[in-house]
Amino acid sequence: MKVLVIGAGNMGLAYAKALVKSEFLSNHNLMISDTSPEKTEELKKISRFDVFTNLADCLPKADIIFIAVKPFHSDELFAELKPMMSPDQIVISIMAGVTIQSMQDGLGITKVVRAMPNLPAQVGKGLTSFTASNEVSRLELSTVENLLDTTGRSVRLDTENDIDASTGISGSGPAYVFYFMHSMMEAARKMGFSAHDSKVLVGTTFEGAVELFNKSDLSPEGWMKRVASKGGTTRAALDSMEDNNIKQLIEDAAYAAFNRAVELGKES
Ligand SMILES: NC(=O)c1ccc[n+]([C@@H]2O[C@H](COP(=O)([O-])OP(=O)(O)OC[C@H]3O[C@@H](n4cnc5c(N)ncnc54)[C@H](OP(=O)(O)O)[C@@H]3O)[C@@H](O)[C@H]2O)c1
Repeated sequence: MKVLVIGAGNMGLAYAKALVKSEFLSNHNLMISDTSPEKTEELKKISRFDVFTNLADCLPKADIIFIAVKPFHSDELFAELKPMMSPDQIVISIMAGVTIQSMQDGLGITKVVRAMPNLPAQVGKGLTSFTASNEVSRLELSTVENLLDTTGRSVRLDTENDIDASTGISGSGPAYVFYFMHSMMEAARKMGFSAHDSKVLVGTTFEGAVELFNKSDLSPEGWMKRVASKGGTTRAALDSMEDNNIKQLIEDAAYAAFNRAVELGKES
């Protein structure tokens, strides 16, 4: 099986690197293409996979085509790909808001997967949600799942609406965590800690809390109860958050991302 990754940007490269690192694909079965000659020349020097600038040289050889360009490049890319596509090829797109129907129409094929990764894919800790057109067989779906799992974990969802919803949770979610971290680091700085110490205090606290959560069956609420005793310091902080309705604000933010994903889908 040969995989072609179109777009050697942040995400395309993260998947290409993860694919060759995993046992899922050998080097000579991975091709990567980008429009920028500078980028491809650099990649040829440093990478072990086949690098192309011209899609006609690689597309016909690919069984799975992984599209990782920005959504605003999709029309132009589809127009270039359409005359070269064959009906057996499977397209996996990670372009935000680009719907299955628009890919099927734009590319003239039926086997299409719409996936939504997140940033930690770049360090092998990503979460990719995905859904597929009915024409993708069960066996092909399991291959797709294995491919997506090389950058972390994947979750198969039933509908594109679920993909838009997952955008509001896992897709955009890392930024919510960074927002929280940033706020805590600013508080630490105001309390007099150095930039270095603020980073260590906050980064390690997040790392530890996440590990506790992932390694136990206890819910976040359960952990909060365990750490906050009546009249104590943590209770004071949690009460302040409750009084300011932070929970509702976070929910609103997640819905803002979900709604924007729906809007982008309609535009596409
Ligand atoms: N970054 C994330 O966390 C994240 C999360 C979820 C989904 N996504 C999706 O992932 C996709 C890629 O994002 P990114 O951050 O990796 O973007 P990026 O860094 O801009 O990478 C896209 C690459 O594709 C190249 N390209 C453009 N048109 C092309 C074409 N026709 N053929 C081959 N290559 C082409 C671009 O070249 P130029 O720079 O020369 O245009 C660029 O090198 C986006 O659709 C985004 O919605 C990203």
